[in-house]
Amino acid sequence: MTQATDRFLAHARIEVPLLCGAMYPCSNPELVAAVSDAGGMGIIQPLSMVFVHGHDFREGLRLIKRLTDKPIGMNVITEKSAKVYTERMQKWVDIALEEGVRFFVTSLGNPAWVVEKAHAVGGVVYHDVTERKWAEIALKAGVDGLIAVNDQAGGHAGGKSPEALLAELADLGVPVLAAGGVGDGPAFRRALELGYAGVQMGTRFIATEECLAHGDYKAAILKARPEDIVLTEKISGVPVAVIKTPYIEQMGTKAGPIARRLLKGRKTKHWMRTLYTVQSLWKLKHSSLKGTGYADYFQAGKSVAGCDTIEPAGAIVRRLADEAGFGRAHSAGA
Ligand SMILES: Cc1cc2nc3c(=O)[nH]c(=O)nc-3n(C[C@H](O)[C@H](O)[C@H](O)COP(=O)(O)O)c2cc1C
Repeated sequence: MTQATDRFLAHARIEVPLLCGAMYPCSNPELVAAVSDAGGMGIIQPLSMVFVHGHDFREGLRLIKRLTDKPIGMNVITEKSAKVYTERMQKWVDIALEEGVRFFVTSLGNPAWVVEKAHAVGGVVYHDVTERKWAEIALKAGVDGLIAVNDQAGGHAGGKSPEALLAELADLGVPVLAAGGVGDGPAFRRALELGYAGVQMGTRFIATEECLAHGDYKAAILKARPEDIVLTEKISGVPVAVIKTPYIEQMGTKAGPIARRLLKGRKTKHWMRTLYTVQSLWKLKHSSLKGTGYADYFQAGKSVAGCDTIEPAGAIVRRLADEAGFGRAHSAGA
């Protein structure tokens, strides 16, 4: 095990260097708990917990804590946004800290306020980045680690390969996790061998028994090949990785010319993004829960290559741990 992996495991207080990344709308409490319970760490997506799965935020956390006594993490999207959103997010972070959450994954924007709150009680913050300039800003804000989102990732993919991104980030003095393209044991081992301290996975955990996504969505993940993953701007105005279904082909993947112009304008881009965000939260929620026949916005990354059966999330964590040599630590500790 490398020193970087050791540091990450100590930061997260877990046994297997594997996060189940936050997924709107797929992160339900049962999935988060199952990954943590097996020795990795499940990351809560608060909007998913409250608006998709219908839990009061504190009650959702308590549900997870009844399912596992292992550490869990929380995703905070720190992008500059409407005041009401920021205030709500700050309140959720306070509640998470009160309920004992000590690991935070921030994405977009400046994570300084999350760092301040987390560090005050001994917590840590890892920030999602797609290139070095964002990593430098996040490190100035005091983050403890980085998550390198590459060009194979589900969700908002980056533009660089896992190798190129690690080369940019390796000398920054903090653990770097890989996000994107890891769906099975060999890919997990390769990421660690490449020098990553650990891995954040998303897509693989949708095709699990605990994930409450519709069966059609899970079936589409099992069937898809990496070349079926395309980026569409239709959901949020910025490229999101989805499975190329007939619905996506029919809709096209580019934002229209008016939307494009508004997304670029200095004054219009914030309200255009807000409009897109509200629309996209709605579309994604319903396509995930209702399946084919509603709208096939099935978000997934190229790691669909490693998804061939629906199984318990804990079984995936244990298999990957064994294949990468963390099996002994796990069976001794869990
Ligand atoms: C359906 C889906 C929803 C996602 N939603 C979020 C999110 O709300 N916040 C976030 O920081 N990352 C989000 N991600 C990114 C994941 O946390 C993770 O970094 C990514 O899935 C890793 O790539 P993989 O899917 O190839 O494993 C999402 C990914 C997927 C597949």
